[in-house]
Amino acid sequence: MTTDDQRAQLEKLRATLRHHSHQYYVLDSPEISDAEYDALFERLRQLEAAHPGWITPDSPTQRVGGQVQTQFVKVRHPAPILSLASALNAAEVRAWHERIARLLPSAYRPQFVIEPKIDGLTVVLHYEDGRFVLGATRGDGDVGEDITPNLRTVSSLPLRVPWRADGPPPPHYLVVRGEAYMRLIDFQELNRSQTEKGERTFANPRNAAAGALRQLDPAITASRRVRLFIYSIVSSDGPTPDTQWAVLNYLRQLGFPVNPDVSLQHDLDSALAYCESWMAGRDALTYEADGVVLKINDLAVQADLGVVGKDPRGMLAFKFAAREATTRLKELGINVGRTGTLNPFAILEPVELGGVTIERATLHNFEDIARKDIRVGDMVLIKRAGDVIPQVERPLVELRSGNEVRITPPELCPACGTPAVKSEGEVAVYCVNPACPAQTVQRIIHWAAVMDIEGFGERLAQLFVDRGLLRDFADLYFLTHDDIIALPGFAEKSTQNLLDSIAASKDRPLPRLLAALGIRGVGSIVADVLAQHVGSVDELGQTSADALQRIPGVGPVNAAGIAAFFASEQTRQLIGKLKRAGIRTRLEGPRAASTGALAGKTFVLTGTLPTLSREAATQLISSNGGRVVDTISRKVDFLLLGENPGSKLAKAQELGIASLSEDQLRSLLDESPPPSTIQPGLL
Ligand code: IVH
Repeated sequence: MTTDDQRAQLEKLRATLRHHSHQYYVLDSPEISDAEYDALFERLRQLEAAHPGWITPDSPTQRVGGQVQTQFVKVRHPAPILSLASALNAAEVRAWHERIARLLPSAYRPQFVIEPKIDGLTVVLHYEDGRFVLGATRGDGDVGEDITPNLRTVSSLPLRVPWRADGPPPPHYLVVRGEAYMRLIDFQELNRSQTEKGERTFANPRNAAAGALRQLDPAITASRRVRLFIYSIVSSDGPTPDTQWAVLNYLRQLGFPVNPDVSLQHDLDSALAYCESWMAGRDALTYEADGVVLKINDLAVQADLGVVGKDPRGMLAFKFAAREATTRLKELGINVGRTGTLNPFAILEPVELGGVTIERATLHNFEDIARKDIRVGDMVLIKRAGDVIPQVERPLVELRSGNEVRITPPELCPACGTPAVKSEGEVAVYCVNPACPAQTVQRIIHWAAVMDIEGFGERLAQLFVDRGLLRDFADLYFLTHDDIIALPGFAEKSTQNLLDSIAASKDRPLPRLLAALGIRGVGSIVADVLAQHVGSVDELGQTSADALQRIPGVGPVNAAGIAAFFASEQTRQLIGKLKRAGIRTRLEGPRAASTGALAGKTFVLTGTLPTLSREAATQLISSNGGRVVDTISRKVDFLLLGENPGSKLAKAQELGIASLSEDQLRSLLDESPPPSTIQPGLL
């Protein structure tokens, strides 16, 4: 090969690598395998090693971390790197819109570009004749720090624009602005590996990205997966588009990574509607965003509107409702659970969080309180993600005055005054009084929910117990028309409706009844197994703990709990009452097949199956004589394995339990999967 040929090959290789790197990092759609990419890359490296004079800074080989720096050099930005004013709700967005409308011609109706507000750090990238020459942090907006060697290692940063020959010609001088960030999965992976190495972890993806870019050793930056989204032109001596929407397209054509989640909206109402739907989908994003940015599309209008302080008038950040807040823990509350657990919760100075006012937050349990050293009177950090109930995360110890009071587990049940009990090896503290009114209310709520008594929730359960109408859930079936209609809020129709739904609940299948009884450890899966095995409540009451333990899916703790439940005089009376009320206490229809292809086999399900839902898979297995349990133990024969399995897979592998796919299960049963489409010709 002549030198000219080699030079031509080198140029071609660079263009090819640039193309594939853009496909991979910017467009997320690789066209070749990693191995092929590596082979091309290696060939380029060889050619460059043979001809060091041909190496250019924009070569794909130049991303790898170079020399370690000793400090960051200051860089003056070509134009101020402005920040943004923000709004916390739609009303504030409308107020902003009204303010700017007054400054604009009355007939003018702005359009808006909506972009996710990435929670990362601003970077300013300089290109000369299309080559990346300098990259800086925002700093104070006028002067930032030169982090060029670190940015070079960021795979989605084009070292050269346009990245392919048929792109728009590069301006001689171009400065763009964007956000460097880390994807959530990469952030989690980074923290995991930091933990493994015994090194510090990062509080959030923003800090992790900032930490990665502010490394004096670019090799460390290179090892962390920082990404970029570019959204504006700070300065250019070439032609620039006249709308924000066109800027995004132009940047995309040059090869910059531009966020695909952007939208052009034609008026404020549609823009707001879009923002709101977007915010609802926040939890599904692959990166952390703290809101959206509304930008007036017309850049001349933006320029005319000018700047207040450091905030351009023509843009606004619409922030997501916070997921964290701090407030004072005023008092400790305790609620009594159905099984008598005494659950601590925090009574807080009201604070706004995620769009609602929070006055209570869970404290999990007393061990957790002790571990985190949460005290009454502390300022505490409250978190709330999505619909999850708010929880106290930790105390702000630096803010203590010294008057905070340590929290100890209660000695008495707050509802009935019975001494509280903590059993060995358990985290919870219990009230063991079976007649405790607080437990009674919870047990009735649970019964009504599982037996599907429509319209009977917490409020009514409390009311009926307070009025002395219910001492246990069996009393529900002895309520009379006169009892109910005398209560506040009840009229003829509502009384009859409630009586009807109570009556309808008498006929629920046995597994429901067993789950509704509220036996510790007996949820719907165990109840199902028990029902199939014993066939009736009476039979269950007569089965010894030993015999119960032999039932697949029933562990020793469950077995002891069930036996203890039926040993009590109170349970006997309760069951008697339920029978007198006419509640169905036996299994209807045939018991699960004790013969069948899966007779005697026990299954655990994990992950998402290709066609069967959990219920359908359970049904399929039990109708063929098998059982489904929910924990892996040596008694389990098969793990039915779907996509994204949980920790059950590792546990099953540890115990040497065989895994089956849905297809394998079906072939055991001689069943073919349901056709996804009906083929013509079959009909
Ligand atoms: S526009 C004058 N667009 O949010 C230009 N900023 O709180 C203002 N940010 O410092 C920036 N995503 O670091 C803009 N799509 C986006 C953004 C964005 C994240 C950051 C940016 C800025 C901060 C303002």
